[in-house]
Amino acid sequence: MITSDILADSQKYLMNTYNRQPIVLVKGRGTRVYDSDGREYLDFVGGVAVNNLGHCPSRVVVALQKQAQRLMHVSNHFHIEPQINLARMLVNNSFADKAFLCNTGTEAIEAAIKLARRYSREVLKQDRYEFITMRGSFHGRTFGALSATAQEKLHKGFEPILPGFRYVPFNDIAQVEIAVNERTCAVLVEPILGEGGVVVPTRGYLKALRKLCDKHGLLLVLDEIQTGMGRTGRLFAYEHEGITPDVVALAKGLGAGMPIGCLLATDKVAQAFTPGSHGTTFGGNPLACAAAIAAMEALLEDNIIIQSVEELGKYFVDGLEDLRGKYPFIKQVRGKGLLVGLELDFDGREIVAACLREGFLINCTADTVLRFMPPLIITREEIDALVNTLDDIFKKR
Ligand SMILES: Cc1ncc(COP(=O)(O)O)c(C=O)c1O
Repeated sequence: MITSDILADSQKYLMNTYNRQPIVLVKGRGTRVYDSDGREYLDFVGGVAVNNLGHCPSRVVVALQKQAQRLMHVSNHFHIEPQINLARMLVNNSFADKAFLCNTGTEAIEAAIKLARRYSREVLKQDRYEFITMRGSFHGRTFGALSATAQEKLHKGFEPILPGFRYVPFNDIAQVEIAVNERTCAVLVEPILGEGGVVVPTRGYLKALRKLCDKHGLLLVLDEIQTGMGRTGRLFAYEHEGITPDVVALAKGLGAGMPIGCLLATDKVAQAFTPGSHGTTFGGNPLACAAAIAAMEALLEDNIIIQSVEELGKYFVDGLEDLRGKYPFIKQVRGKGLLVGLELDFDGREIVAACLREGFLINCTADTVLRFMPPLIITREEIDALVNTLDDIFKKR
């Protein structure tokens, strides 16, 4: 089938929920993907922070092949080792005591909302259910996560959203303090706003939130769906501030390309879930778990990947800062590790399109922020190639 026919069928048969680029991707290896016309692209989108180990990492492919030949699915009415092994790995490498496995980020957030409410009702025996969440946040598209997402433009047409969410400005502790009331049960926050434009809070923000939560008896729930699994130069972004959260939501990079989500929690909080209180048919699917185990093994054994992220991110930001010195329309460069943003004073879509023409996949979020989330195995030379291409594109503007 020729590319134009595939694109026509895409429009004909798929619901119109994405602003897709006009290419059809058919293959990926490492940091590169290939389209239906055989063109190669250097991938700085990384499946939106999913392909942390690059495309089709051999260790994950082999694990999937092996698992597919043994067992692809059984009901959660039975025990399976891949789930237990993954949960053990996550617990041993985090603050958590227990894991709940699901399929996506939004589902991990739904689990977080339900767990926090049930913990308040069933364990603390208090009628608390409200979450404080941050303006510009993004937590997912299902109703709980959408209601937690403090961006009215995403609620439009879906109202009424769920009650029980109070929005405050990001990176403003005083406003959180004001928003706390006798109904509040938790604060939900991304360590870095991802979809909201790669907004990095001031150092000490998470620590101050931890303190505030302790003072008022609230749970600190972190959405590490985008920042987790090595993206910021630590396995989890909360490690940068040396804090202990109560609950953390994961997805994206966890499965290295296989759909999987996870909610981590301390024993104290996790006890609120009991048989029948929550669940999902596919959560902890053997294939997804096998992929996640292999991906975590690669990240942890080869600690070099995570260690190099901070240094590569700094190198990347330095390159982009040089561009900012040259082009006044670049407002700010920001990020942590390999979650990097460049804010323009105009709509970034034309730059995304120009990069595509030059063989680079990049993303634009919050209208004006070019966002880069390459595989963590990206090289300095590949970063140089993108920065030079952006320079050429900006020059012509
Ligand atoms: C911080 C954050 N939370 C939640 C989600 C939702 O994850 P999913 O798309 O897997 O439902 C995303 C997705 O972009 C995200 O970036």
